[in-house]
Amino acid sequence: MQRDVYTHGHQPAVVEQHARRTVETSAAFLLPHLNGSMRILDVGCGPGSITAGLARWVPDGQVVGIEVVPSVLEAARRHCAEAGAANVTFREASVYDLPFDGGSFDVVYAHQVLQHLTDPVAALCEMRRVVGHGGLVAVRDSDYYTMSRTPESPLMDRWRDLYRRVARHNGAEPDAGRHLYRWLKTTGFTEITMSASCQVMADEESRRNWGESWAERCLTTDFASQAVAYGRATEAELGEIAADWRAWANDPDGYFHYICDEGLAVRTS
Ligand SMILES: C[S@@+](CC[C@H](N)C(=O)[O-])C[C@H]1O[C@@H](n2cnc3c(N)ncnc32)[C@H](O)[C@@H]1O
Repeated sequence: MQRDVYTHGHQPAVVEQHARRTVETSAAFLLPHLNGSMRILDVGCGPGSITAGLARWVPDGQVVGIEVVPSVLEAARRHCAEAGAANVTFREASVYDLPFDGGSFDVVYAHQVLQHLTDPVAALCEMRRVVGHGGLVAVRDSDYYTMSRTPESPLMDRWRDLYRRVARHNGAEPDAGRHLYRWLKTTGFTEITMSASCQVMADEESRRNWGESWAERCLTTDFASQAVAYGRATEAELGEIAADWRAWANDPDGYFHYICDEGLAVRTS
């Protein structure tokens, strides 16, 4: 199975953050195009919170989630069982080699996945193969360059720069959102609708969660160990960045936003 180096890692601070996502926050651009009996593939489904939401939107259809990491798939299975999502199944598979016949799905969706791949166009070609004629490929990715906050700080700027350098060292594209249109065109799609939406951390709960999560991610995850292994940062510096995140998390005036780009492409040939 082809595997790229995943910049975030799958430690609890990462997976718990992803599990907060919902279909409403992360797939709003897709929802108007769903009908209740569609077959949906959720590529790189992570801990399955969006997958379970998709299942609610297609009560007479089927959702399949695929992932490369067995422990994350287990978390997704547990989440869907607890949510009572009976029309969902999961499989261990890579987007580069999907174990499905051509035209098996009406919608193939990937949320925050292409940014982690060394060959996003190869992934999109495979996603296109398994969607039927007239079906949709739907992708959404953030653009790390746009991640910004108030109050600003040099350590925040250093964090953004460091994350982008580590991701690029892994052959990935941290600013993927702005590249989706070109990648979809290169894949061969001619009917593409682009949109963008903004993630905002403003209320106390989301600010504390985001800040604490990134503090932890600077200390205990693969991102931190890769930054040190690649000679991009020292542990001491990561400790300072983590402390800066924690200070921000506790600042009642703290505000954070970033852009996510969204592409909807119809398979016409
Ligand atoms: C940022 S997470 C997004 C998870 C989920 N889609 C969400 O938005 O909450 C990216 C996921 O893609 C998975 N992934 C990485 N490479 C993959 C590949 N080649 N095929 C399928 N999934 C992959 C990772 O294991 C990770 O769980």
